[in-house]
Amino acid sequence: MQKVYEIAQLQALREKMQGSVGFVPTMGALHAGHLSLIRRAREENDHVIVSIFVNPTQFLEGEDFESYPRKEEADSEICRRAGIDLLFFPHAEALYEKDELRILAPAIRGYILEGEKRPGHFDGVLQVVMKLFNLTRPTRAYFGKKDAQQLALISQMVRNYFLPTEIVACEIVRDEKGLALSSRNAYLSDEEKQRALALSRALRLASERIGAGERDARKIEAVMEEALSETDKIDYAVAVRRDFQAIDEIEIGNTILLVAAWVGKTRLIDNLWL
Ligand code: PAJ
Repeated sequence: MQKVYEIAQLQALREKMQGSVGFVPTMGALHAGHLSLIRRAREENDHVIVSIFVNPTQFLEGEDFESYPRKEEADSEICRRAGIDLLFFPHAEALYEKDELRILAPAIRGYILEGEKRPGHFDGVLQVVMKLFNLTRPTRAYFGKKDAQQLALISQMVRNYFLPTEIVACEIVRDEKGLALSSRNAYLSDEEKQRALALSRALRLASERIGAGERDARKIEAVMEEALSETDKIDYAVAVRRDFQAIDEIEIGNTILLVAAWVGKTRLIDNLWL
């Protein structure tokens, strides 16, 4: 595995790669969720590139950019063991200039749910992913369903800008109790970890109700809200179509249940694709 910090080094090594390239962009503090994307990329491509970059432009004022976990040594070891070819650790100064051209997330889908709670967040995500795609020129890029709205917007960017990359959606990896793995779980105390299980429980209870025949989206949302009462604040608990349009009726095969809630000072998200 080669580890590079400079754009020119990355480009030189990318130039030498023959065959397909799988790319996994991350912000580091790698866990089994990230690793499942890396393993899949390893299986499906001749070469694998992973990037680790805590991207400042996707954090809002007052969010956790400064305290976001940074674990270069441990992450490098995980990547090396996973057998990737190239690990890219760019510097913010090399990726951005002061007066930048911006990519804007779509007006509605970029500004509902996560985009409403974190306005401008997806502009920053799309901006950095576009840069990273242009640098790594991947055949396939791997994203987790955990960040369902991010995945939908990146797929839209690829469509709208005719990018020659296939977006591969990967299943959510959870711990044995059901908590979706996240780098931000590191902020949780033991007591908070226990209460954080309310998110996956809400999704499970809702899917059980749907399994029993309930199709009214508002009633399913009420089930999720009730289960989230153990958290400190609910940002949203909704059922939407897979394209993120609002719905009144649950349609199996075309619905995502999405929850976002705060446990202490930590904001958590989870979802379930029906
Ligand atoms: P990060 O939060 O590090 O996540 C990197 C990738 O891992 C994303 O595609 C995310 O959906 C996936 N992932 C995280 N937790 C997962 C889990 N429990 N199961 C499956 N996949 C999981 O998402 C970002 O970074 C950034 O926004 C990025 C795309 C790198 C742009 O900066």
